[in-house]
Amino acid sequence: MPAKHPVVIDLKFERREIDAALADAFAGRQVLRASDPRIDLSQARYAVIWKPDPNLFQRAPKLEVLFSGGAGVDYILTMPGLPDVPIVRFVDESLTTRMSEWVVLQALSHLRQVPAYLGQQRERQWRELSQPEAKDLTVGVMGLGVLGLDSVRKLKVMGFDVIGWSRSKKTIEGVETFDGGELDAFLARTDILVGLLPLTPETGGIFNASLFTKLRQGGALGKPVFINAGRGGSQVESDLVAALDSGILGGASLDVFEKEPLGADSPLWTTDNVIITPHAASASDVRALFRNAETQMERYEAGDPLQHVVDRRAGY
Ligand SMILES: NC(=O)c1ccc[n+]([C@@H]2O[C@H](COP(=O)([O-])OP(=O)(O)OC[C@H]3O[C@@H](n4cnc5c(N)ncnc54)[C@H](OP(=O)(O)O)[C@@H]3O)[C@@H](O)[C@H]2O)c1
Repeated sequence: MPAKHPVVIDLKFERREIDAALADAFAGRQVLRASDPRIDLSQARYAVIWKPDPNLFQRAPKLEVLFSGGAGVDYILTMPGLPDVPIVRFVDESLTTRMSEWVVLQALSHLRQVPAYLGQQRERQWRELSQPEAKDLTVGVMGLGVLGLDSVRKLKVMGFDVIGWSRSKKTIEGVETFDGGELDAFLARTDILVGLLPLTPETGGIFNASLFTKLRQGGALGKPVFINAGRGGSQVESDLVAALDSGILGGASLDVFEKEPLGADSPLWTTDNVIITPHAASASDVRALFRNAETQMERYEAGDPLQHVVDRRAGY
């Protein structure tokens, strides 16, 4: 059997989690921790990375495959000195399931007016609010990839009317879909907008004033709601704040921001009907990440094609 090649680990995750996961990962393979500057990385063929050190590619000039520590690769594609080698995205059931939990939670929170009830609770107010049903609302999901498709399925289970938009048209049973050129028609039908798009030159700033005004007004919640767990670079936060202030949007759930962490002075923290989570919708499970990377390394060493390889031209 051919030798297993060493793997570099450069993940800006919780150190304890990495240590625990490494205890039973990459059997028979040398693991090189990039966090130790004395370690020689010059012969390494693989690197598992999340926000790696800028000098990684100088220290490891013989890399043949890069494994992203997350589903999004926007940060890798803009790294100076990025070698022209395949980049494998992290695709795993745990990541997908966690994201769908978050998306369904946010859609239900707005449907069931959780922010308003929490406000009433703080004021010790006993007051019932009028309540539409899930079927009265159309949730429009932008991005029908691994994460978007699972969210669509689970939103449907909760009874929402669900529609979807993606670059290339998808066929999903029971879900009306729209392609890249049909954005306005999609938005005009949408009461709750869910962003699950990668950040690319095409999707940067896509959630802006013009887009918010095209969402359906007067639906069962009165005003449209914006939910984003894709990337913060896709939203124009000043436009978002203005749309919330002026009532073009009735609420939002945000996991991602133009600049993270979100500044303490951002008005979003205190805007009514806005739910904020700290880029925690779907954290990567490090054990699953290492299992996935190992599977792909074995495929590569056996001469089989790698899976979930990023299309560099499309940017995701
Ligand atoms: N907040 C968090 O904790 C967290 C965790 C994981 C991931 N994420 C984010 O979620 C994103 C999506 O992940 P994924 O695994 O679902 O990605 P994916 O499988 O690559 O799917 C991306 C989807 O977006 C669509 N798309 C891309 N560019 C588009 C454009 N210009 N116009 C219309 N549609 C476009 C794609 O269309 P096609 O189907 O036509 O290709 C595809 O449906 C990641 O890139 C990452 O940024 C966030």
